[in-house]
Parts: sequence; structure tokens; C-alpha cells
Amino acid sequence: MQIVVMASGSGSNFEAIASACALGKIDAKVVSLIVDKPECGAIERANRLGINVDIVDFKSYSSKLAYEQAIVHLLNEYNPDFICLAGYMKIITETILDQYSGRIINIHPSLLPKYPGKQGLLDALNAGEKTVGVTVHYVDGGVDTGQIIKQASFPIKQMNQEEIETKLHAVEHELYVSVLRDLTMGER
Ligand code: GRF
Repeated sequence: MQIVVMASGSGSNFEAIASACALGKIDAKVVSLIVDKPECGAIERANRLGINVDIVDFKSYSSKLAYEQAIVHLLNEYNPDFICLAGYMKIITETILDQYSGRIINIHPSLLPKYPGKQGLLDALNAGEKTVGVTVHYVDGGVDTGQIIKQASFPIKQMNQEEIETKLHAVEHELYVSVLRDLTMGER
């Protein structure tokens, strides 16, 4: 199976997925990392891991439509079984969904349907939640509204924010790998 990862940020989830594939924990290959800007930490990780990077610089397109058409063009070359959003900070529209709906999954730092949007963890903490968590879900046209595949949570107890963020990332990495392992074995 072939996986394309899309990211906008530091790329720790991308690295977790790519490393798990390389180690045979996920029966798939990451064929490309697509990023939406040239200054993105994930690129360095891909270079280190020897994974192809496609930079589709949003700023160099006249519209979101043209930008997403360029992404579809790339995706059609790879024809991936799964497209994993991993800190990809743009809404996916029907330009991509029309062809790839059902194959696009995302990880979100909250226990959806609570706290969708850009700062799921912060919103959960600000609301006084005593347990936080992460969700892997299919992507639809909404903001973090697609069908939930799997969730994981932990109590925050006496942890400070930095400790919570560190733990959350570790939980994310484990959850994303676990879901992809299941999906590539056809268990979902
Ligand atoms: C993660 O917290 C993920 O849940 C959210 O964006 C963050 C990406 O982190 N969608 P990284 O770039 O994978 O380190």
C-alpha cells in the first residue's frame, strides 16, 4: 500500500508514520510528503528519512482552487491508498474530496466532536477538562467533522502544559500508527 502524508508544521506525526512504515510496523510505504510551504520542519525530517518531498507553495497560486488542483495532479501520479493529514493546516475542499473522499484521514488534538478547529488541546484545557485526548478521523468537507476512526485519552492530573503537550504528541504518534496498521491490514 502507498501512503502520502500532507503536513504544514514540524512533522512529528509524519515521522512517526514514515518510521513505522520503514520498520514494517505498518504494511505500507510513504511515497511522498506534500507540504504547503517551503519553510516547514517536516521537510527536514523527510530529507533525513530519504522520503520524497513535494512542496506545493500555497502562496504561488492565484486561488485555493488552483492550489488544490495542483495537489490533485500530484496525488493522481501517486494514486495513494491513504492520504494522511498530519498537522496540515488547510481545509480540504471538494476539489480533492471528489476524488479522494474515504481515503483521507486526519489526526486532531481533542476528543472530537469536542473542540474542533485550530487549537483543540488549548480549548479543552481552557474549558477545564481533566482528561484530554486525540482523534483520528476520516476527512469530510467540514472542520474536523468526519467519521471518527479511533480515539485515545489520558488524565492530565498534576501535569503542566508542556508535559501535557509532550504526552499528547506521544499519544498521537501511537494512535496514528495503530490506525494505519489496522487500515492497511483491511481491518476497518
Ligand atoms: C498535531 O497536534 C496534530 O494533532 C495537529 O497538528 C499537530 C501536528 O504536529 N493536527 P506535528 O507537525 O505532526 O508535530
